[in-house]
This record gives sequence, structure tokens and C-alpha cells, in this order.
Amino acid sequence: MRRPIVAGNWKMHGTRSENARLIEEISSRYPADPVAQCIVCPPYVYLQEVGRLLRDSALLLGAQDVSADPQGAFTGEVSATMLKDIGCRYVIVGHSERRLLCRESDQLVARKFAAAHAKGLVPIFCVGEQLADRETGRTREVVARQVDAVLELSGAQALASAVIAYEPVWAIGTGRNATPEQAQEVHAFIRARIAAQDATIAEVTRILYGGSVKASNAAELFAMPDVDGGLIGGASLKADEFLAILAASGSR
Ligand code: PGA
Repeated sequence: MRRPIVAGNWKMHGTRSENARLIEEISSRYPADPVAQCIVCPPYVYLQEVGRLLRDSALLLGAQDVSADPQGAFTGEVSATMLKDIGCRYVIVGHSERRLLCRESDQLVARKFAAAHAKGLVPIFCVGEQLADRETGRTREVVARQVDAVLELSGAQALASAVIAYEPVWAIGTGRNATPEQAQEVHAFIRARIAAQDATIAEVTRILYGGSVKASNAAELFAMPDVDGGLIGGASLKADEFLAILAASGSR
């Protein structure tokens, strides 16, 4: 049985006072025994402070990115050791915004995954096709290439302590989510790809869906057999929406 995860990716949003208000609103109405594990991923500069705000809650802390290198002359980068040091448990790697805007390659993402994993952080490893890929029938090819880069560098065993997020790029921030059937089809494909190397690991690996998840569509997405929760962008900044999505994680 895979416990679902609902993770909030705050992206480059928030201020100290907005963050405090959001965490207060979420934690004051947080269910006593939620089905899903809940994670919030604020920007780097707020990680420690949000970590303190979360201290007495069941919410866990994640970062949005990590360096592929352990330490050294990498101006502006933040290492896995540093994230661990300040109480992060999770880190997003390979988000499509970084793949596209910062030109992160499959190989760099795989190195970031390995760097996080080596320090005991749980990578939330994002994959997903662009609209042109989907329209030309290349979704599986793109997702396979992204997944294989991690499998080749770290091996299937590493996925036992990682989370995958399938996020079709055309669904991110657009209000146009994948249908539950489209999501299920790719999630099952990813699971089969892992199973080809290790069936036991494939069975326990959580695969989240991300891309325009909101309170109104979360339940039908999370009801699919291979969808183990969600990575939530815009809706994670609104306590009502985020809590409703968390409640929908009991739909399966
Ligand atoms: P969205 O973003 O929910 O705003 O579409 C999801 C993500 O980028 O992780």
C-alpha cells in the first residue's frame, strides 16, 4: 500500500508574512489523521523560517532544487548537505521550469537526484512531456528518456527512497490538467518502466501527478490506481484549496 503524498511547490512566491499566514491557516485546520503525507517546498531563503513554523506540525519541509555537486566553487548553488543541515527532508529535482528555463539536461537532473539521494534527502523527481511531444505521439519516448537517465545513474533501488512526479508541461500553470485517464496511462507506463528493472521497487514507488491540480479535480485524479497524490503549484498557495486537495487524497 503506497501512502499518498500531497506536496506544495510554492515556486518563487511568498514573503515572510504571507508564508507565516499560509502555514498558520494550513496547520490550524490540518486534519488529525490525514491519508496523505503533506510536504511544503518554499523558496530557499525561507526554508529555515518555514521549517521553524512547521516544527510542531505533521507537515514536512522540501526544497525546490539542489546542486548536483557536493560543495565547492559554485556561486549561487545550494548543496544537499546544506538542505539536510537545515531540516529539509525532500527536494524537487528536474522540475520542467528548471529543465526549460535553466536548460537542465536529463543527465544534470540525474546527477541532482543522485546528490540528493546520497545525502538522505528524498528526491521528488519530475518528468513530463511538452505539448509538441504529446501532439506528435512522443510522450512515452520523452518520459522514458527522463526516467532512464536516473535509472542508469542511480539504479532502480534508489527509487525506493524517492518520489516521482509526472507533470505534463502543457498542464503546468495553464488551468488545463491532464484527464485522469491521460495521467493514469503515463503513470502506469512509468511504473512498468521501473518494473522492468525491479518489480518490487516499482510497486512501492509513489508517482505523483502535477499540473493544474485543484480542489475541483484532485479527487478524480487521485482515484486512479497509479496516481499516488499530487505536486501542487498555484493551488498550494491557498490554504482552502490545498486542504481540500489533501482531503481528496483519500479518494482511492
Ligand atoms: P500548477 O504547478 O499546479 O500551478 O500547475 C504544478 C507544478 O509546477 O509543480
